[in-house]
Amino acid sequence: MLLSNELRSKYLAFFKEKGHAIIPSASLIPENDPTVLFTTAGMHPLVPFLMGERHPQGKRLADVQKCIRTGDIDSVGDAWHLTFFEMLGNWSLGDYFKKDALAFSFEFLTSRKWLGLDQNRLHVSVFAGDKDAPKDTEAAVIWESLGIPKERIHFLPKSDNWWGPAGQTGPCGPDSEMFFDTQKQVGELVGKTPTEKFSDGCSKGRFVEIWNDVFMQYNKTAHGLFEPLKQKNVDTGMGLERTVAVLNGLSSVYDIDSFKPLMQKIKSLSGAGLFEKNLSSGRIVADHMRSAVFILGDSKGVGPSNTDQGYVLRRLIRRAIRHGKNLGIEKDFSVEVAKVVVGQFGSVYSELGKNQSFIFSELDKEEKKFRDTLGRGMTVLQKALDSVKQSSDRTLDAKIVFDLYQSYGFPPEMTGELCREKGLEVDLDGFQKLLTEHQDLSRKGAEQKFKGGLADHSEETTKLHTATHLLNAALRKVLGPHVFQKGSNITAERLRFDFPNPQKVSEDQLKQVEALVNRMISEGLEVKMEILPYEEAKKSGAMGVFEEKYGDHVKVYTVWNPKTKEVFSKELCGGPHVTNTREIGGFKITKEEGVAAGIRRIKAIVVSP
Ligand code: ALA
Repeated sequence: MLLSNELRSKYLAFFKEKGHAIIPSASLIPENDPTVLFTTAGMHPLVPFLMGERHPQGKRLADVQKCIRTGDIDSVGDAWHLTFFEMLGNWSLGDYFKKDALAFSFEFLTSRKWLGLDQNRLHVSVFAGDKDAPKDTEAAVIWESLGIPKERIHFLPKSDNWWGPAGQTGPCGPDSEMFFDTQKQVGELVGKTPTEKFSDGCSKGRFVEIWNDVFMQYNKTAHGLFEPLKQKNVDTGMGLERTVAVLNGLSSVYDIDSFKPLMQKIKSLSGAGLFEKNLSSGRIVADHMRSAVFILGDSKGVGPSNTDQGYVLRRLIRRAIRHGKNLGIEKDFSVEVAKVVVGQFGSVYSELGKNQSFIFSELDKEEKKFRDTLGRGMTVLQKALDSVKQSSDRTLDAKIVFDLYQSYGFPPEMTGELCREKGLEVDLDGFQKLLTEHQDLSRKGAEQKFKGGLADHSEETTKLHTATHLLNAALRKVLGPHVFQKGSNITAERLRFDFPNPQKVSEDQLKQVEALVNRMISEGLEVKMEILPYEEAKKSGAMGVFEEKYGDHVKVYTVWNPKTKEVFSKELCGGPHVTNTREIGGFKITKEEGVAAGIRRIKAIVVSP
């Protein structure tokens, strides 16, 4: 049996041997990326470096990244889907390219020293080519030279063999995927060619994808063009849970070692025979609780709320409780299950241990709050469904969905699911309209972000990055040294900056801050980047917010006047930044508001001088 811990450490040891720096997992909550709520792949925190920024740890990196993908949430409960998973990845930032990337993958998978997979059970796919990029014969030739015969190399279109950008714009490129032949008996494979048979075998679950090597050499622009990137990169991703499952011949990710104690715990809490009867509910509870623990336990952890990440978290917890009911669990259970997750992962992700009291108290509060109204809400829904069954359109009215949301805390997706389980429909569009009428647009914004992609690193956002540093420094000068960056979010249009302050920032103070930032801009200060050991950077007085992101070396950006040597701002940051503050033009604060007790938020834009 290959254990999860073993795969993690073997993977990192292998890439260390190949000259890669091992970097820690970044936060699940992306920094400065307005287009997605969660980190969805290992490459996500590395976008600036794939676009050409220098990474403090060098050009070869490897890590195990915590990821959340909620797009497939409705498939969770089957054998393979998860909302939280760990991704093993290695990167070349303008260093090695196809030949080495594929050779590394092949060696790690097949060498006795590493995973020792039978190479006769490997199939690979490569990009077939289209109007945007040529057929990847280069990758195919490399695979052949490594010993994979032609009939196990499959040319597939963009829908299969292209990765990114996750949103509208950003780094992307053709990829080559590796599949393991589980040799499961699925009957005769249908198709005229080896590739058609392979595709049929994939859809029947005989071949399972285990690794994806992306040759990230394009940037997709807002106009849909694929421009060559400054540098040719490699971005790879191997799903830890799936790989452990297939390598051990298991037929579900929920059977791997790290899920076992969790599934056992849920089973022990369930009513007699109910766990076996409702296996998918058991899996949903396990998956959603794991995600909830990792979101709450993140260094940038958030609690349940009605917006953005907090709302996703709320949905996950409430859905888990609802599925717990299918298992006959009527008493509070989330903390008990969360303890198993923390016990299982605390040694790999130390933040879980550090934040455990927050994890448990937030779960407990949310569960109590929801249970308080769950029973009454179910009665209301049951009644409504009884009459819907008699109606001609068999559709639950949006007003009831809204009432269940407003008065009983039922996420509309959950109401939808409860309806579909009974073969009934639900008017979710109507619900959205009602919600909009109630001027609660925030959650809709969250859903749009769900579908979105990666940050835009255009000139505007670069200016806003530097303006954020100036704002932070100016706030500290005007309000005091208690100010620091609690949260930051940048779109192509504006910056958003959250910081602690006991009261509202007055009009007068805002004017002073704005004027100070504009003065720093018009003075044409220099923006200097240095790569320093973490401890040294800290000693130098640099403000830091992404402590665990880059490992032992960090990038420090200093905004200063090289003539007078006066330093205005010094922060740990990934970049990118302008080189002279004059490039920003001008700065204008558009809004100041409170977002939580003791936390203020400023929105600002850059303007022409
Ligand atoms: N970014 C690639 C993926 O997520 C490796 O599959």
